Amino acid sequence: MDYCIEVSKAKFEKIIHEQIERVLKLRQNTESIDFNKLDKIIIGVAPGDGIGPQICRQTVDVLKHILKDESKIIFHDIPGLTIENRMALGETLPKDTLCAIEQCHVLLKGPTTTPQMGSGGKNLESANVALRKALDLFANVRPIKVPELGIDWTFFRENTEGSYAVGSQGIKVHEEVSIDFCISTRIGSERIARAAFEYARKIGKKRVTVVTKANIIKLTDGEFVQACKQVARAYPEIEMDERYVDIMAANLIDPAKQASFEVLVMPNLYGDILTDEAAVIQGGVGTAGSANIGVRYAMFEAIHGSAPDLVAAGLERFANPSSMLRAAIMMLNHMDFTKHAARLEAALDQSAVVMDGTQGATNQAYIDEIMRYL
Ligand code: IPM
Ligand code: MG
Repeated sequence: MDYCIEVSKAKFEKIIHEQIERVLKLRQNTESIDFNKLDKIIIGVAPGDGIGPQICRQTVDVLKHILKDESKIIFHDIPGLTIENRMALGETLPKDTLCAIEQCHVLLKGPTTTPQMGSGGKNLESANVALRKALDLFANVRPIKVPELGIDWTFFRENTEGSYAVGSQGIKVHEEVSIDFCISTRIGSERIARAAFEYARKIGKKRVTVVTKANIIKLTDGEFVQACKQVARAYPEIEMDERYVDIMAANLIDPAKQASFEVLVMPNLYGDILTDEAAVIQGGVGTAGSANIGVRYAMFEAIHGSAPDLVAAGLERFANPSSMLRAAIMMLNHMDFTKHAARLEAALDQSAVVMDGTQGATNQAYIDEIMRYL
């Protein structure tokens, strides 16, 4: 049997070098934006695939309305981030598209389709994942609120490392043996922990829960916990506790425990899974927005995918745009347009139009209602 050991070793060696290089670059990445000092703020808009163009356009309509008196704001269309364009070019993130995104101060992005391995055509990496890595958007912030259950959670998901870092560079050692990699770095874990603790301090939360599976995934998850403990020392007023991801998933649906969690911080894959679960507790994945924050760049999106099934069935008018609208609220806050953000949030919280899959209102009816509140 040919186990390709030499080829596998060479691939592994390449990954090691790339990760060392990445960590060295992270240390130099310090140039942030002060939005109050800008004369122009460029919001890039990449509508994406599937239901993306529709819910993205509706969100931009709402944003244009809410920001109509703000002469600093410029919307900039970024058309290249579609599955058709990416497949035609054979690139996850076409260079000119990335270049256009880098000219913006923030990016509002609709969901993008990721071809699954074996679905024919080129096996492209997820555009989301590629963008998060290319722009070093290390903090994936996902708020979930259900006031009637006392739920007010903010997830801080590490967004550039863990099982996602080299998710498309696993090694097929042999027909019967495949190996993937999970990566954690001290600087990567510390900066997401600091983001979580800073946020907790800023809004007066008293508890940060660190979620891993460090009893089994000893090294990468173990190091993540150590980094969080180190960071926690600078925040003595905040209690840090730990949960393993399996019991965390159980606790999130336990009525006796739900209200006690506040800020949660975790490696990439656990954050992906738990935030979908949490979104369903809030009313569905269509109700949850997501901010991807780095030092210089920030991208705002829905937490869900492009829903190709809905589009294939001709039912995209039932796609819930509130995920994108929640992302837009986070974007406004990020840009220091906090009053506009609060207005939009109030409109969403008060809206009487209920979206409930194909049983509920259409997204345009929902948007019209939101516009009336504004
Ligand atoms: C998310 C999504 C993405 C992820 C997909 C679309 C690549 O599920 O933002 O949670 O896995 O991170
Ligand atoms: Mg997800």
